[in-house]
Amino acid sequence: MASTVKKESASTKNLIERGLEHLWLHTAQYNDLIKDDGFLVIERGDGIYLDDIHGRRYIDAMSGLWVVAAGHGRQILADIAAEQMSKLSFANPFAYATPPAVDLAAKLASLTPSTVNKFFFINSGSEAVETAVRMAKQYHYNRGDTKRYKVISRIGSYHGTTLGAMALNGSDGLNRAPFEPLMPGVVQVPNTNGFGSLTNEKTGLDDMFWAQYIEERIKFERPETIAALIAEPISTSNGNRVPSKAYWEHLRKVTEEHGILLIHDEVINGFGRTGRWFASEHFGIEPDLLTMAKQISSGYAPIAAVGVSDKVAEAFVGEKKHAFVGGSTWGAHPVSCAVALANIDILERERLPENSSATGEYLGTQLEALKSKHQIVAETSGIGLMRSITLKRNPDTGEEFTEEDELGSRVTRLLLEAGILSRAGASIQLAPPLVINREEVDSLVEGISQAIVGLEAELEIS
Ligand SMILES: Cc1ncc(COP(=O)(O)O)c(C=O)c1O
Repeated sequence: MASTVKKESASTKNLIERGLEHLWLHTAQYNDLIKDDGFLVIERGDGIYLDDIHGRRYIDAMSGLWVVAAGHGRQILADIAAEQMSKLSFANPFAYATPPAVDLAAKLASLTPSTVNKFFFINSGSEAVETAVRMAKQYHYNRGDTKRYKVISRIGSYHGTTLGAMALNGSDGLNRAPFEPLMPGVVQVPNTNGFGSLTNEKTGLDDMFWAQYIEERIKFERPETIAALIAEPISTSNGNRVPSKAYWEHLRKVTEEHGILLIHDEVINGFGRTGRWFASEHFGIEPDLLTMAKQISSGYAPIAAVGVSDKVAEAFVGEKKHAFVGGSTWGAHPVSCAVALANIDILERERLPENSSATGEYLGTQLEALKSKHQIVAETSGIGLMRSITLKRNPDTGEEFTEEDELGSRVTRLLLEAGILSRAGASIQLAPPLVINREEVDSLVEGISQAIVGLEAELEIS
C-alpha cells in the first residue's frame, strides 16, 4: 500500500496549481479541493492499485467508480485500441455499421437475458438511461398508445446527471433545485426498504410490502398513463440492499399486466459486479430494456448501451416515422466497441463474474467480522464485489453521526492515509476491481480497520 513518496518536484507542484486553476472536477466543491490532499492527481494504475503523482500507491477500492472490472494496466486493451484506431477510427453511426459494433452487439446478445437481443450504443450511463426512457415512450407511441408519459422511479436511487436522468433520481445527494422544473411525469415511489415513504425504513416492513405499495400507486396513477418503471435490480445508492426474488417477480408481473415496460438500470450492477453477468439473473426475471455502461469496457474507452427485448425492438420496425428518434455522434464508436469486446473477453476467460461471487463473499465475511472489532460498525450489506459498511455512533441505540462529525471528509482522509481510495462517509462503499484476490481483500479490510481506529480516536469514542 502507501509506498515511497517522491520528493515534491517543481513540475508536480505546477500540475496541481494548473489543475486547481483550470480543471473543473465533476460536482466537486473547490473549497474542498484546495485543502491538504484534496486535489489528488492519479498518474497510473496496475491491477487493483492506483499511483498518484507523488508516487503514493493506493488500493482502488471503488474500481474508479464501479468501472475497472478487469483491473488497471491491461496492455492488451491498449493494443486493441491502437489497432482499431489505425484501421478505422470513426464512421457515421447514423448511417453505417462497423465490424466491432456488430461483434459487440452480438456478444451482448449472448450474455444478456434471453429476450434482450438488440443493442443501441451511446457514451455514458446517463445517456443510456435517457435513451431507454425515450425508447419506452416511443414504443407505446408507435403502437398507437399515445397517452403514456409517466415514468416510475424509486426514491434513494441514482440514474445520472442529464436533465432527464436527474428527474428520475430520488437521492438527496444531488441538489436538483437549480434545474427545476425537470422532466414532467416522474412518479417517485419508496425503495425496497421503505426508504422515501412517510414511515421511511424504520418500520421493518419487508420488501414485498413495498412491491405491493408500488402496485397500488400504479393503479392510483392510472396505468394507461405510465410508460415505464426504471430501477436498479440491486440498488447501490440505497445501501447495496439485495431485494427478495418475490419482490422482482411481483413487479415484473404487475408491469406486464398493465403494459408498462420494465427498465433495469444495470449501469453499476452489470458485467459481474454482483457475481452474475447481469443482476436480473439473481431474480430469474427478464426486463424489457436494460441499460449498461461502466464495466462494459472497464473504463478503457467510454461506451454505454441500451439492450432491448424482441418485443420492444419490433415496435420500431415499420414506417419511417417508427424509427427511434435518438443518437449521438460518438455512439457505437469503433474504438470503444473493440475495447469493450476485448474487455468482455477478459471477464469471460478469467471468469471474473465468478471471482466476484466467491471473493465477494469472502470480503462480506471479513467486513462482517469488523463488527466485533469496532463498536461503530453498525451494518454491512451487499453482494458480489459490491458492498458497504454503515457506521453509527452507537449501533445499539441507533444513534447516527451528525454533520458536525464531518464523517465524509474525515473517513475519506483516514482511508487515504491507510492507502485506500473509496467513497466514504457514514457509509463506506466498496467495489474493488473484479480481479482482486483474498490476500488483497485482507489488506483492504486491514486498511479499513486502521481507518476506523483513527476515526474512533479522533471522535473520542471508546
Ligand atoms: C445506476 C446508475 N445509472 C446511471 C448512472 C449514470 O452513469 P454516468 O455517470 O456514466 O452518466 C450511474 C452512475 O453512477 C448509475 O450508478
